[in-house]
Amino acid sequence: MIKTGIIGAMELEVEELKKEMAVTAIIRKAGMDFHEGSLNGTPVVIVRCGIGKVNAALCVQILIDEFKVSHVINTGVAGSLNAGLDIGDILISRDAIHHDMDVRVFGYRLGEVPQMGFREFKADEKLMDLAKKACEKVNPDIHVMYGRVVSGDQFISSKEVKEHLIAEFQGDCAEMEGASIAHGAYLNNTPFVIIRAISDKADDSAEMDYPTFESAAARHSAALVKEMLKELGA
Ligand code: ADE
Repeated sequence: MIKTGIIGAMELEVEELKKEMAVTAIIRKAGMDFHEGSLNGTPVVIVRCGIGKVNAALCVQILIDEFKVSHVINTGVAGSLNAGLDIGDILISRDAIHHDMDVRVFGYRLGEVPQMGFREFKADEKLMDLAKKACEKVNPDIHVMYGRVVSGDQFISSKEVKEHLIAEFQGDCAEMEGASIAHGAYLNNTPFVIIRAISDKADDSAEMDYPTFESAAARHSAALVKEMLKELGA
């Protein structure tokens, strides 16, 4: 059975979706409120996981173990690392990397979790395709593209760090949860996609832009997820 787990790090990122869902139960675990029910006719569990990679990893495991979700969508905002991605645009993950994993001293590539043999967690192609089509339908004026999400427990707000993330990972956007959700989904053989609307440029202007644009960006991402659910349930 199709059951979609939807994770946002902040309330802003899930509040629109929660308002519109029919809630059958709210279950609290690990300090997170899992809202179970349906949205656009399809079973969902919507949850705010809190900021950062540990919260995100715990959340995805609970969604899979306790709520038996069949796949996971992460909605939210991100800083752009790609000159072609402006504030308000949307990035759909092709893959995700932990940018703060560094075991180079033992011969691993920067970003590679030791002994995994790769550093990119690949998103599900069907979910990617559904997300892009849903975006073109509900947000026709918004530029949407596939790309690479790089995640770490760090808000990126300097040109130097941004350049490092581009040079080392060819990242398209930076945020703080996606790779953990991808990693958890991978370990549990669960398809995932990350959808992020750009709230800032992850450089010296990020501190100013982020508070100004986060709300509109989060709404764009949520509108896309809502539309996607129609197709997933069909
Ligand atoms: N989320 C939104 N903007 C971000 C940034 N610049 N760095 C990390 N996470 C973000």
